[in-house]
Amino acid sequence: MTLATLGLDGGPSARTVLLSAVSEVGFRFHTDARSTKARELAADDRVSLVIVLPERAQQLVVQGRAVPEAADESREAFGRRSAYLRHLAWVNDAEHARLPDEERQQAWAVAVAETPDGPLDPPGTWCGYEVVPHRYVFWEGRADGASHRTAFVRTAGGWSVDHLPG
Ligand SMILES: Cc1cc2nc3c(=O)[nH]c(=O)nc-3n(C[C@H](O)[C@H](O)[C@H](O)COP(=O)(O)O)c2cc1C
Repeated sequence: MTLATLGLDGGPSARTVLLSAVSEVGFRFHTDARSTKARELAADDRVSLVIVLPERAQQLVVQGRAVPEAADESREAFGRRSAYLRHLAWVNDAEHARLPDEERQQAWAVAVAETPDGPLDPPGTWCGYEVVPHRYVFWEGRADGASHRTAFVRTAGGWSVDHLPG
């Protein structure tokens, strides 16, 4: 999904993240606490998410607040990630990124040789957030008619519903 935050310069800031889990409460993602997005979220927790399913002609846009997840929940989510992604969380830091390509490949090979099934524990900088929405907009396209959006906005008693042009 696309995660949009407010940049520290006040402008928009967006990138792709893996949607780790969805529940009735919100949408979870995981990242590195040293990342730009983590610093931006510490300053302003307002976010927008965009999830697009082109094969189904569907899109979901979410606006909400990113709430830091408890450490044990982040740890559990780390365990659900593939070995490749668990290695990535350990290896892919700023220092690694600045190495020449050959050295980066060597460092990766060493990490994989040390724990072929991937590290079990997350690095100390591993962290997660749950985006708790206050607005959902579902978009549906169709070949034989107009696209259509349904917007849900959180109210004191539940959710208001509105229908919008695509
Ligand atoms: C398909 C895809 C999935 C990604 N998933 C994640 C993710 O789950 N967590 C993450 O921190 N970065 C993920 N990234 C990398 C981010 O897009 C981004 O480059 C990185 O997190 C640095 O972002 P920042 O500097 O804005 O914090 C993913 C990138 C792609 C293309």
